[in-house]
Amino acid sequence: MSDFPGFGGALYPLFSQPLYCAGDVLSDSIVNHVTNLSFYHDPMEMNGQNSDEQMLLDGCPELKALVEKHLNFYVYTILKIDKKYRLQHHCSWATKHLTGDKAHKHSHCNSVFSGVVYIKTTPGCGKIAFHNDGFRPTYITPTLQPDLTEHNIYNSTEWTLEPQDGMIVLFPSTLEHSVDKNMDFEARYSVAFNYWLHGSYGSNTNRLTV
Ligand SMILES: [Fe+2]
Repeated sequence: MSDFPGFGGALYPLFSQPLYCAGDVLSDSIVNHVTNLSFYHDPMEMNGQNSDEQMLLDGCPELKALVEKHLNFYVYTILKIDKKYRLQHHCSWATKHLTGDKAHKHSHCNSVFSGVVYIKTTPGCGKIAFHNDGFRPTYITPTLQPDLTEHNIYNSTEWTLEPQDGMIVLFPSTLEHSVDKNMDFEARYSVAFNYWLHGSYGSNTNRLTV
């Protein structure tokens, strides 16, 4: 960003949709576990295949430990959520995308935090894109879409990441995302997961324990 005019300049990207991205090492046993699962075709056309297994992380403790290492850091260290709230895995599955497969725009319901780990990727296997849902205006109403000279974290309503083997991405489950078409001839494998945040919330007239 350019230098600010005057002195003491700062820009605060308020009220975030915190998107976490990191890399980690996947063992051969994790990769073999995921790529040897059985898959069914998603009912939506060219939307890829999902594993029959829907509690995948419970059957692959090594991958679950890797996911929770990053998720704990994201939730408790970065977002500073009190540790009295307990993260619990509720659902996890693998996705297999063959040539031409993509994922339509969606968010994850019945979940608080979600994420994806990339198990097997190739350079043309399709980026993941995160979208502003349009219900929450950011710096400008969705009615106006001014041309920009450059996209950055402050002015974008869409943000893409290029998957790599071992990349882990975490986000609030309400954040809409989609996956570009796999343009490569090799299958792309990833594992997605949903977590809930258990505990006691609020007090008096807004108390909730879940
Ligand atoms: Fe998703």
